Amino acid sequence: MAQPHSARSRAIEPFHVMALLARANELQAAGHDVIHLEIGEPDFTTAAPIVAAGQAALAAGHTRYTAARGLPQLREAIAGFYGQRYGVDLDPERVLITPGGSGALLLASSLLVDPGKHWLLADPGYPCNRHFLRLVEGGAQLVPVGPEVNYQLTADLVERHWDKDTVGALVASPANPTGTVLERDELASLSKATRERHGHLVVDEIYHGLTYGMEAPSVLEVDDEAFVLNSFSKYFGMTGWRLGWLVAPPSAVADLEKLAQNLYISAPSMAQHAALACFEAQTLAILEERRAEFARRRDYLLPALRELGFGIAVEPQGAFYLYADISAFGGDAFAFCRHFLETEHLAFTPGLDFGRHQAGHHVRFAYTQSLPRLEEAVQRLARGLKSWQG
Ligand SMILES: Cc1ncc(COP(=O)(O)O)c(C=O)c1O
Repeated sequence: MAQPHSARSRAIEPFHVMALLARANELQAAGHDVIHLEIGEPDFTTAAPIVAAGQAALAAGHTRYTAARGLPQLREAIAGFYGQRYGVDLDPERVLITPGGSGALLLASSLLVDPGKHWLLADPGYPCNRHFLRLVEGGAQLVPVGPEVNYQLTADLVERHWDKDTVGALVASPANPTGTVLERDELASLSKATRERHGHLVVDEIYHGLTYGMEAPSVLEVDDEAFVLNSFSKYFGMTGWRLGWLVAPPSAVADLEKLAQNLYISAPSMAQHAALACFEAQTLAILEERRAEFARRRDYLLPALRELGFGIAVEPQGAFYLYADISAFGGDAFAFCRHFLETEHLAFTPGLDFGRHQAGHHVRFAYTQSLPRLEEAVQRLARGLKSWQG
């Protein structure tokens, strides 16, 4: 008999929503009109100037590897963007272009985590974080968080949960699945708490740009030593191009470059050329229109869900998710999701996909559908609640 697959691969959980997605696709194939509120990517296709730049790059033969750290002109454009958006003077030498934010997470966890060492992570949170840590034989210390701390790690929680094997904390702002944002002073306290313990602060800023009525501060405004994960997937609408970046302190760059060379050689070349168009005024204007559309959707869906009895204790300021407590209706979140899929052809994600803390009575709605579709979804929710027997 063949050897079993590695313990690390067995320890990594699948997305639980995939079972629901498979069923949703079956229903759709049978001719049903399924509304997808489970998908964590913008419904808009990539903005035309970016697509045109990608096509031009292909025509010009930019089909080969780039330097492991990425195209110098893209790293400069990103550094320039930090100047414009955050007033941060960033040396392009500190920017590494990666295959998605996922590639940045792979680099950061490979660089910073030895076997048996841990990062503190908020629960609920993005599930892949703990799986990346497992992949490098480290681990996640999941810290339960709720509305009282805006679903975010705080300096106090870092202090209370830090132990001899903790080497860092990873926070996301805006966060998935809750959409909450860390203020500048909160980032500064987290930075102080991790530094006092000689640990690393890693901040996932992948949903930056998708905040409503406010701008999320970058940790680089208060901590030059922090590691920042970012991506072209969400605000820039390029999920399928697989492009992101990591900002690291100067002392880390050479080792990160070595890891990048070995793990993936370079991020996709044509995607990097396309992304150069992201920072042009005409592209940013399109992206800002899309941001305004997401804001309108949130402003519709948040009160509509609350009115139906979903508990959303803090107003999410960013990303495109609403994380809702279904306790008022009784029953288990997975069964609740299944009920709506079967009876109303409405798909959303059970809390189990984001951790363990109160996961059984939370669900996540992604407002990655047009307003008329969201209105239809709310009608289906109202109807489905009548037949739900929690
Ligand atoms: C919080 C968070 N971090 C990272 C990612 C990875 O995204 P990508 O690799 O497309 O940049 C996602 C994707 O959903 C996410 O939600």
